[in-house]
Amino acid sequence: MKFLLVVLFILFTSCSAPSENKSKYDPPSDHTVSKEGAKHKPGLKNPLDNCVSCHGSDLRGGEVGVSCYECHGKKW
Ligand code: HEC
Ligand code: HEC
Repeated sequence: MKFLLVVLFILFTSCSAPSENKSKYDPPSDHTVSKEGAKHKPGLKNPLDNCVSCHGSDLRGGEVGVSCYECHGKKW
């Protein structure tokens, strides 16, 4: 439980940083759809078909470690 709180805290603080510029990630060149500086791969409206293979079956990170929920809530 304590661990979970620490993780949530880290996620929260890293997201509350100023959003002026580019993100901390280095996405592959096929991530061509820029949303306010965050590069998304085309097909982002259907993440359960297009993104789960790398971003995890629950879209919370998977093998690339980038969770869709760290920047915005579940809106798809
Ligand atoms: C073939 C593997 C793969 C697939 C499929 C994939 N991604 Fe990614 N994605 C990555 C990798 C690798 C990164 C960079 C991770 C890092 O830098 O630590 C990334 C990073 C990202 C980022 C952060 C980019 C930024 O500029 O901050 C977003 C947003 C993202 N992906 C969205 C998507 C969406 C939406 C889909 C589905 C339509 C998708 N990805 C499918 C591998 C993939
Ligand atoms: C580095 C931050 C970041 C990450 C990680 C991220 N997004 Fe986004 N995403 C954004 C921003 C910023 C926008 C544009 C503002 C908005 O629509 O909230 C956006 C917009 C979107 C939109 C468009 C919404 C619309 O109404 O047009 C979709 C769909 C989306 N993201 C899906 C995903 C998926 C799926 C993932 C994980 C694979 C992901 N995002 C990961 C930052 C991110």
